[in-house]
Amino acid sequence: MTAIRVDDLSKSYGHFSALASVNLTVEPGERRAVIGPNGAGKSTLFNIIAGQRLPTSGDIYVYGTKTTGLRPDAMWTHGLSRTFQRNQLFKNLTVWENVELACAARYRGWAGFAARRSNVSALERDIVDVLEQVKLAHISSAQVTNLAYGAQRQLEVALALAGKPKILLLDEPTAGMSPAETEAMLSMLSRLPRDITMLIVEHDMDVVFSIADAITVLNLGEVLADGSRDEIRANEDVGAVYMGRQRREA
Ligand SMILES: Nc1ncnc2c1ncn2[C@@H]1O[C@H](COP(=O)(O)OP(=O)(O)OP(=O)(O)O)[C@@H](O)[C@H]1O
Ligand SMILES: [Mg+2]
Repeated sequence: MTAIRVDDLSKSYGHFSALASVNLTVEPGERRAVIGPNGAGKSTLFNIIAGQRLPTSGDIYVYGTKTTGLRPDAMWTHGLSRTFQRNQLFKNLTVWENVELACAARYRGWAGFAARRSNVSALERDIVDVLEQVKLAHISSAQVTNLAYGAQRQLEVALALAGKPKILLLDEPTAGMSPAETEAMLSMLSRLPRDITMLIVEHDMDVVFSIADAITVLNLGEVLADGSRDEIRANEDVGAVYMGRQRREA
């Protein structure tokens, strides 16, 4: 079954159309990037899928269930986790404590409290797993405020992974990073389990080509192209609009 289906989605702000009849499908295990120039509608699309914004019309389906209009915490119960562009970490706590809070959030209420008490070792295993996935196990006792920017952003991915998502939404995961930090993030993302479906909003083409296997190109709120990495690389419309390449006349 399709992991994410975006069906005829539109979003208007007054008379301005930020998204116009966007269709998109993401298959389980796929790593799909949504790219496009500034103002193309990438963040708008991302925020509607994640439940942060309501569409003007159209629907979102996650594993076949209509999730249009559900709030972000409800999306989480459908297996979808997102990272944010800005830092949302507890800066005075350690790396371990931040991941522990996120992992423990899965055990809610009285039933959760009982489960948590009898499951301390399961919780610890979860924390260790997540820290290893994001390559932060060696600095788990460091206070977040003392981490480099790149490591803080890796920790944001850790918090999203703590919910054991089937789908991970990443919003410009390498924005503002140095080349070395970007490389560390890309290597970490590319090693995540293949069964985690990823949707990545990004405008750095090098980042996109290194992790995505499928790409959707937005331009002025519409889907300009959709295809495999190689198809998009070879697409002349994409070259002309997005990469500033001259289009050859027929
Ligand atoms: N709350 C809003 N009110 C009015 N217009 C908005 C609002 N949010 C976004 N827009 C407009 O919608 C269009 C798409 O914005 P969006 O942020 O989705 O683009 P983007 O592709 O993420 O761009 P960037 O690469 O700069 O992040 C832009 O023209 C933006 O100005
Ligand atoms: Mg954006």
